[in-house]
Amino acid sequence: MESPDLDGVMAIEESSFLTPWSRGMFAEDLGRDFSAPVVAVGEGGEIVGYAVCWTAAGESHLLNIAVHPARRRRGIGRALVRECIARGARAGSSLLHLEVRVGNEEAQRLYGSMGFRFLGIRKRYYTDTGEDAVLLAREIRESDAH
Ligand SMILES: CC(C)(COP(=O)(O)OP(=O)(O)OC[C@H]1O[C@@H](n2cnc3c(N)ncnc32)[C@H](O)[C@@H]1OP(=O)(O)O)[C@@H](O)C(=O)NCCC(=O)NCCS
Repeated sequence: MESPDLDGVMAIEESSFLTPWSRGMFAEDLGRDFSAPVVAVGEGGEIVGYAVCWTAAGESHLLNIAVHPARRRRGIGRALVRECIARGARAGSSLLHLEVRVGNEEAQRLYGSMGFRFLGIRKRYYTDTGEDAVLLAREIRESDAH
């Protein structure tokens, strides 16, 4: 992800989340050396999805991921998670963890199909609705780097 991608990223962000990240949050992330934000690009050069993943102290955290509503169910989300895992592996990470809303069944199916396991529940984690978060994690191996 680079600055010129942010218009496309924001359009997807605002159509995907009840409480979207601001443009400034993404812009700030571009400057962090422990972050590896990634975009998926369509054949015409348009942004079709993105993910934000941080790696620190040997662990990675998937903070944000979304795919354009018209481009879902074509494997883009899976490819983005796989790329985060690969980047985490190259940065020396052994674990990728994330939080997902209890009611977000699509995302939970995606993570479940990729080997994430249940770690626990964070009660009322999402302040906009008071919804609980499911905490998931997946081991990262050296072989995931490729
Ligand atoms: C979650 C999200 C990123 C998935 O992106 P995607 O490109 O549609 O996902 P993929 O096509 O790679 O799907 C991979 C698997 O996830 C599961 N899945 C994804 N969407 C699903 C849906 N609507 N219903 C059931 N299963 C679904 C399926 O197992 C799917 O594999 P299959 O298509 O072979 O059955 C997308 O739905 C999205 O942007 N949602 C809004 C933002 C969001 O909720 N982000 C996650 C926050 S934690």
